Amino acid sequence: MNAEKKIYTTDFLVIGSGIAGLSFALKTANHFKDASITIITKNEKNECNTKYAQGGISTVWDTTVDSFEQHIEDTLIAGDGLCDKEIVKMVVEAAPNRLQELINWGTNFDKTQNGNYSLGREGGHSQDRILHHKDITGAEIERALIEQVEKTKNITFLTYHYAIDLITEHQVTKKQITRKEKTTCFGAYVLDQQKNSVKTFVAKVTMLASGGNGQVYSTTTNPVIATGDGIAMAYRAKAEISDVEFIQFHPTALYNPGEYPAFLISEAVRGEGAILRDFEGNRFMHNYDKREELASRDIVARAIDNELKKSGAPHVYLDCTHINFGAFKKHFPNITEKCLSLGIDVKKDFIPVSPAQHYICGGVNINKKAKTSIKNLYASGEVTKSGLHGANRLASNSLLEGIVFSHNAFDNLCKRFHKIKMPNNVPEWNDSGVVKNMENILITHDRNEVKTIMSNYVGIVRSNERLLRAEKRLLNLYEDNKRLYDHSELSVDLCELRNLITTAYLITQFSKNRKENKGGFYNADLIKKEL
Ligand code: FAD
Ligand code: SIN
Repeated sequence: MNAEKKIYTTDFLVIGSGIAGLSFALKTANHFKDASITIITKNEKNECNTKYAQGGISTVWDTTVDSFEQHIEDTLIAGDGLCDKEIVKMVVEAAPNRLQELINWGTNFDKTQNGNYSLGREGGHSQDRILHHKDITGAEIERALIEQVEKTKNITFLTYHYAIDLITEHQVTKKQITRKEKTTCFGAYVLDQQKNSVKTFVAKVTMLASGGNGQVYSTTTNPVIATGDGIAMAYRAKAEISDVEFIQFHPTALYNPGEYPAFLISEAVRGEGAILRDFEGNRFMHNYDKREELASRDIVARAIDNELKKSGAPHVYLDCTHINFGAFKKHFPNITEKCLSLGIDVKKDFIPVSPAQHYICGGVNINKKAKTSIKNLYASGEVTKSGLHGANRLASNSLLEGIVFSHNAFDNLCKRFHKIKMPNNVPEWNDSGVVKNMENILITHDRNEVKTIMSNYVGIVRSNERLLRAEKRLLNLYEDNKRLYDHSELSVDLCELRNLITTAYLITQFSKNRKENKGGFYNADLIKKEL
């Protein structure tokens, strides 16, 4: 490890450069002109789940055909009774203003020939209400936000800076803190991956916007950065966490063995009329839900899982052959091209698809102001449990959640930032007594083991026995990894492994404790619910 050690102070420390982190940084920087804002991100500027978002962002845009009430109702139905109604109402009603800000920042959403925004449809939505940029909406949002951030003088944007742990009283007083005690966040310890040194970032306000954790599963649509760091860091800092058992599996990832992460075939394709067929070519969704292909995601994913278990086939098919090809290609150029690169011509061939982990509905508890249970630690986006999604997120409500809660955090800070003092006496990172880890292969093995355990035992359909097995194996991995972590020189691989094990364990524990099947959570040993 590089001997250079430094303490850096910044007014706002933003962990993550997806939609939640960037939109928060921009708002605060533009309002608090004299304040310093530091964004740290562990990879390239735009490498995050946001970049891969396809379908778009839901909002009630055309009030002649749609209404807040309908978007609220669709969100509540998808959430299967566990959404916070007040939060759902707040988010849905805030959506048009937040979308307008994205547009003002330069995001281009597709328009129809008459100049109105083109509104797409996805599963669980009773109206067309998804603003999109072709089938690469997230990449377009990242482009626009990063361009704005780069023009903003009081933002420092540090790539390949990996947050290891949040700093709270635990590090300052060196005393163990219990989950019941009130704590404050003073910033974070951050590994500068290029200099190989740990920097201490002391901040008045820390915004945790570190995204999801798809990498705990063998098959996921999430990029490799999605390792649950934020949930694990917050958990170690004793923040309140909930609902992490509600893992959303996307029904239609492209079945292409060996490709990792899985390429997504957007739900908007079903919104355009695509049909699911089993391995023999027969339709099946009418056996599961009267909304058929446009039932909410938990229902469609479980239906496909059931079909695959019955038939033993590796995938089902998505049939787009009846859809006007010109219109299809215009809306989905990336999907059309990807399929063609694999010899699948969507005009005449069915697309092989199967479910893949896609999203985590729970996470770090926040209130409507995006405050966590730790003072001066805010959180926004996929890392959180805000109450919007309940047991199953409605399609295209996630990007929306990120911009709404980042705005709310900003709004709250307008009232209280001037009262927050820069923390002092924060100790530097201590890495005495560690040695260079010679066997990176152990980390790779353990990472693969976590994925196998979670996919085998904590997948779409769980059982008491499966959860017990997962718990036992994850505890073993935790012990082995703890030894490695306490004595080895830090690396991103090692830290990510620690966080993967922690989030996998939390998902398993919360699953064991859940006594009713709801939304994306299904334990076959609990009272049976209609598939
Ligand atoms: P992210 O965009 O994932 O950003 C997290 C950031 O934190 C990244 O920059 C990451 O590098 C950084 N980070 C993580 N850990 C650390 C650390 N330890 N140190 C430093 N930096 C760290 N949702 C929709 O609403 N509509 C869609 O159409 C849609 N399509 C999707 C398609 C795909 C393929 C995927 C994977 C997801 C899709 N989603 C969609 C979900 C949505 O994209 C995400 O939930 C959302 O983008 C999350 O935004 P975020 O800002 O919270 O996190
Ligand atoms: C998709 O395009 O199917 C993904 C939408 C989402 O995750 O909300």
